[in-house]
Amino acid sequence: MHANSSPIVSSQADIHDQLEKLVARHAASRFLKPITPYSEAAFNASITAWRAAGEPPLILDAGCGTGVSTLNLAARFPEHFVIGVDQSADRLGRKIAWPGTLPSNFTKVRADLIDYWRLMQQAEIHPDRHYVLYPNPWPKKHHIGRRWHGHPVFPAIVALGGHFECRSNWRIYIEECAAALKQLTAIKVETEAYYPEKTEVLERDSNILSASSFPITPFEGKYLASGHSLWRCRIHIVEA
Ligand SMILES: C[S@@+](CC[C@H](N)C(=O)[O-])C[C@H]1O[C@@H](n2cnc3c(N)ncnc32)[C@H](O)[C@@H]1O
Repeated sequence: MHANSSPIVSSQADIHDQLEKLVARHAASRFLKPITPYSEAAFNASITAWRAAGEPPLILDAGCGTGVSTLNLAARFPEHFVIGVDQSADRLGRKIAWPGTLPSNFTKVRADLIDYWRLMQQAEIHPDRHYVLYPNPWPKKHHIGRRWHGHPVFPAIVALGGHFECRSNWRIYIEECAAALKQLTAIKVETEAYYPEKTEVLERDSNILSASSFPITPFEGKYLASGHSLWRCRIHIVEA
């Protein structure tokens, strides 16, 4: 695990002053960017894999990188089917060292999440759990529109419903995400410092994971090894 990650530097000391307006604007308008054929094909392949598994409760690992978290989630939730989505063929193609037999309840696909989330919404497929783990933070103030909660796709993310969790090493990202979620759902969102080993070990089902499974993503590991604090927000969105 590399302990060489620099802390986030931003001119923002708090939630972005335009966030509320931006979220309201996106919620009030239709996002018309055309869906790319490669994302649609990946979406169809992943849903076919889920259907072939008997359509168990679904977990979406959005921005799964190499897919280490996809495997960890599949092991932790054996009654679910996990779909890991990332746009990086390089990351998805990396070999993962996994102790023992790989879980069978997962698939990973290469797609643009901006398309994948909307395709899921259009197909009215709702994940039971939805993880956005260590998204690119885009810490420059004028990049607010690239953070997921500042992006036009955000209302589609919220419309999917389920148990949603976002983790980051930038506290402001999580506070913004929580504020945007609350704005669109009117549900109180838990925001907290996150200590994976402590919390996960307490929460996990016994015997399912070995201690070596923590942290659950490469970025989580890298940030922890670099001494960063981690943050997360969680919400149970009951879709209308
Ligand atoms: C900082 S990495 C975190 C990866 C992984 N979740 C982890 O914690 O190790 C962010 C990931 O989001 C992916 N990503 C960013 N924008 C994306 C998009 N529009 N569609 C799909 N994946 C995207 C990147 O390719 C990258 O793998």
